[in-house]
Amino acid sequence: MKKYKVGVIGATGMVGQRFVTLINQHPWFELTEVAASSRSAGRPYSEAVSGRWLMQSPLPDAVGRLIVKCAETDIDEIASNVDFVFSAVDMKKNEIQALEEAYARHECPVVSNNSAHRWTDDVPMVVPEINPEHLEIITAQRARLGTKRGFIAVKSNCSLQSYVPALHPLKDEFKLSKALVCTYQAISGAGKTFETFPDIVDNVIPYIGGEEEKSEQEPLKLWGTIEDGKIVKASSPSITAQCFRVACSDGHMAAVFASFDKKPSKDEILDRWANFSGLPQKLQLPSAPKQFIHYFDEADRPQTKLDRNLENGMAVSVGRLREDTQYDYKFVCLSHNTLRGAAGGAVLLAELLCAQGYMD
Ligand SMILES: NC(=O)c1ccc[n+]([C@@H]2O[C@H](COP(=O)([O-])OP(=O)(O)OC[C@H]3O[C@@H](n4cnc5c(N)ncnc54)[C@H](OP(=O)(O)O)[C@@H]3O)[C@@H](O)[C@H]2O)c1
Repeated sequence: MKKYKVGVIGATGMVGQRFVTLINQHPWFELTEVAASSRSAGRPYSEAVSGRWLMQSPLPDAVGRLIVKCAETDIDEIASNVDFVFSAVDMKKNEIQALEEAYARHECPVVSNNSAHRWTDDVPMVVPEINPEHLEIITAQRARLGTKRGFIAVKSNCSLQSYVPALHPLKDEFKLSKALVCTYQAISGAGKTFETFPDIVDNVIPYIGGEEEKSEQEPLKLWGTIEDGKIVKASSPSITAQCFRVACSDGHMAAVFASFDKKPSKDEILDRWANFSGLPQKLQLPSAPKQFIHYFDEADRPQTKLDRNLENGMAVSVGRLREDTQYDYKFVCLSHNTLRGAAGGAVLLAELLCAQGYMD
């Protein structure tokens, strides 16, 4: 298979560093461009991230020698040197929308970690195991942008990457009617470490700006349908969420309560989870977990620290399935927020786009 030349915009940040690390060891991708703000531009990448390299693996030498470009002013050069870019910039929403669209209009596909375009009608927001068919909207988006290759595709918010996979294989067959979720989210989701966020030690903060709305609404876009060149969100199930920041470095956990119009048995739920497999598994994409949903029988699992790295942080862990007194069932879900929930999920999406010919 040919190697795709890849750039990362926002490469010096926490998510950008995760992209750089994943691309560096990727069988299909070769990192050729790194870009960030004008503060970092013009310097070797090693110098631009000096004192703020947050990954556990050391910075690869060859990557360290790449000269950081300015994501905003060097678009021409970057777009002509890559097959596509990953976006992980931290800017105002309208600035990110304009920047990502500028890359797309330069015929450079953008796979974005950012939320800015998640509600743009013709931008697919995809969890590859759940709604790969939404990529078909790219044809309509290209027509709007007037591009041949260029488009934007995004991944969904990290909070929902644990419970939506568990609800998905049950949703249609058993007619999922409503869900209540409480999430317990790691500090890396705020771009923080224990050193930079001392207030979280011995603490729980019951507020994450914008997160509850995303947790309630984004699943409905994932479960939506394409109509007249737009993705129309699903009208059900109804989801209510509370999102808390907890003193964990990585890993978002969710306590889930769910009710169905056709209540399944516990064995039926366990069977659907065990046998759920999506297009990434069928295509054997390099970052796809072999078993997307792992169920733990132990009463005290999954645990954030023990289970977040399952299948390189790309699988979802589920446990404690039991009947509830007010909803039909309750259970616990866990996923790695910066791997499956951020850069890893975007890399898997890019693999799917390559496998389906969108990057050619
Ligand atoms: N952390 C997570 O787990 C997570 C999960 C989901 C989504 N997100 C989202 O992903 C994005 C990145 O998050 P992060 O935690 O990696 O942020 P971060 O560590 O603050 O990094 C931000 C990146 O954006 C660049 N940047 C800032 N202003 C810019 C500008 N005007 N032009 C070009 N580049 C600019 C920075 O470059 P300099 O180094 O040159 O300043 C840096 O590379 C954010 O939008 C965040 O909301 C994060």
